[in-house]
Amino acid sequence: MSITVRAAAKINLHLGVGRAREDGFHPLDTVYQAIGIHDDLTLTAADDLGVTTHVAAHIDPAAVPDGPDNIVLRAARLLAGHAGVPATGAFEVRKDIPVAGGMAGGSADAAAALVAYDRLRDLRTSDDDLLALAAELGSDIPFSLVGGTARGTGRGEQVTPVEDPHSWWWVAVPTSDGLSTPAVYAHFDRLRPDAPVVPAPAEPVLAALATGEPLRLARALHNDLQEPAIDLRPELGDLIALGEAEGALRGMVSGSGPTVVFLCDSADGARATAAGLSGAGHGVVLTATGPVAGAHVVA
Ligand code: C5P
Repeated sequence: MSITVRAAAKINLHLGVGRAREDGFHPLDTVYQAIGIHDDLTLTAADDLGVTTHVAAHIDPAAVPDGPDNIVLRAARLLAGHAGVPATGAFEVRKDIPVAGGMAGGSADAAAALVAYDRLRDLRTSDDDLLALAAELGSDIPFSLVGGTARGTGRGEQVTPVEDPHSWWWVAVPTSDGLSTPAVYAHFDRLRPDAPVVPAPAEPVLAALATGEPLRLARALHNDLQEPAIDLRPELGDLIALGEAEGALRGMVSGSGPTVVFLCDSADGARATAAGLSGAGHGVVLTATGPVAGAHVVA
């Protein structure tokens, strides 16, 4: 008995970050979009609990955390505890989403694990409970369940779907050397001690999405973590400039980085930008459209 669940990478089209709260988390006003780079997770009934990971050629296997802290196992234990059943099962993850890249690869796997465990064990957990368990595991895991395009508030875990009927073309360039999310937030605190309590509002991106015009969206893209990410990794600024010179409408650090994403005007535009970046020596250049679905059963 087994089940396979697919979950997508996310990017933040808007990431407004406010001054850190008492609990250390930062208040966010963000717009997430799920894009067509996926991890597939297969859960097979077993007596023990374990996970094995297979990575795509562009991912360094050493970068994938294993052991009991693996987010997939944490998700399974959390849901099993909630349902009052033993945490058992053999998880197999096929990763295509860059690791530690600001594209929520670990969050996608956690969301996929929650869905797979719920369906295979026929737990029938309510959507509200699944979202609450996801939020306990990480701020952007509720979005990985929901997918599509959505606004995130609170610390990012309060997710409201957003109308986004158009399709957008993205080129993503992961960097092999990860940048940890807490380190980028901590650097934000150092660079922006005067950050506003209320984060920059997402309305300009929401208005641009409604037009379906790539140039409008390109102008509206916003990420308050880009400055600290580039300050920690100056080469990211050079990469953004290169992609824009190769025809992208706009380049931006994805979430806390170090993956950089480029919005392009069309499929041809994305192909040309990707070819230009590859030609300039960037080995791994991924092309995807968004929005796509959240975690869902494929087999
Ligand atoms: O919630 P999650 O586990 O994904 O967060 C990882 C880390 O990122 C947190 O421990 C915190 O340092 C930082 N973070 C933050 N504000 C947020 C989300 C994450 O400071 N809204």
